[in-house]
Amino acid sequence: MATERTLSIIKPDATERNITGKIIAMLEEGGLRVVAQKRVRWSREQAEKFYEVHKDRPFYNDLVTFMTSGPIVLQVLEGEDAVARNREIMGATNPAEAGPGTIRAEFGENIERNSVHGSDSPENAQKEIALCFDESEIVG
Ligand code: TYD
Repeated sequence: MATERTLSIIKPDATERNITGKIIAMLEEGGLRVVAQKRVRWSREQAEKFYEVHKDRPFYNDLVTFMTSGPIVLQVLEGEDAVARNREIMGATNPAEAGPGTIRAEFGENIERNSVHGSDSPENAQKEIALCFDESEIVG
């Protein structure tokens, strides 16, 4: 197992409910370390670029609208197998299908308002981190 980095986003449904601290606690308790973090509000252009891989999916427009509807917290998480570990801590995309004790089971409202994003592969993690952070903002 290798130390790895992944990109995490606390989504607008969670910042709106003031539960970012609860989510960060679950990430930390799950063995991940926050090595970069910033609260931002994305423009439509930024959200479209981030979710470009989904641009032909039927949910793309609504997803971009949702992700620009309020503040989000961008994070770089570091730890053993951070990409896979974070996906375990997050739970399934649809909160109704997420395992007990996962962030999405605990806090997700529906498949769109599912509280968190996490990179789905080490390759995508590198791309997403580079898109969201300057190297100087990451302090391991
Ligand atoms: P996806 O990459 O499939 O899931 P994950 O976030 O678990 O990696 O989808 C990206 C986001 O798109 C997902 O978090 C929420 C949204 N989405 C919908 O709104 N409806 C859908 O049917 C799907 C599959 C995703």
